[in-house]
Amino acid sequence: MNAKQAAGYRAAEWVEDGMIVGLGTGSTAYYAIEKIGLRVAEGLKIKAIATSKASEELAAKYDIPLIKSSEVKRLDIAIDGADEVDPDMALIKGGGGALLREKLVAINSDRFIVIADIGKMVARLGQFKLPIEIVPFCYEWTLEQLRNRYDIDFAMRMRDGGLYVTDNGNYIADAAFGSIEFPAQLSHELKMMTGVVDHGLFVDIAQTVVVGYDDGRTEVIE
Ligand code: A5P
Repeated sequence: MNAKQAAGYRAAEWVEDGMIVGLGTGSTAYYAIEKIGLRVAEGLKIKAIATSKASEELAAKYDIPLIKSSEVKRLDIAIDGADEVDPDMALIKGGGGALLREKLVAINSDRFIVIADIGKMVARLGQFKLPIEIVPFCYEWTLEQLRNRYDIDFAMRMRDGGLYVTDNGNYIADAAFGSIEFPAQLSHELKMMTGVVDHGLFVDIAQTVVVGYDDGRTEVIE
């Protein structure tokens, strides 16, 4: 069992009969979904909302019943990966591009569990490039506004020779902050910018972090 699998499988143990579950996105969330799927095959009764088309497909593969947001007011639990986790459980997410749906699901869950291999734990956020989701309309102006404000490198995310398009039809600019001293302040500033839809800083959202180690051990931080 590798570190990601250890964390994903451990977090899946929090899921109980009757829960509405938010399914994350990425290579660590993959294992949580897999384990939840195996438990569903053994009789676990849950309903779920996935944070990306990829995770929807994975859930369908494991016969995890998916529901629409109109069918439920809140989720009991959400389990998702992260690109960086700091000692205050602030996160950078969105390496896989699903940050907006991930944040919507996380903030509307009674409990948000982050699953991360030990390599994701950092003293300060910012080495991982911060994904910022921006609207396609006049995106060059939004990019310019970001560059003028922060004087760091912002790279438009590309895929297959064109601009990367999120599941929501938006673009992503990856920001090389290097070190983020005040995540809450930056989170607020970015949200205030016209043209920015959301960003991958998750501050004061996670309640639990499950850290996975290469030898299969896990550590739970609350
Ligand atoms: C997806 O958009 C991301 O937020 C992922 O949750 C994050 O990038 C972690 O992905 P891995 O588990 O694949 O490292």
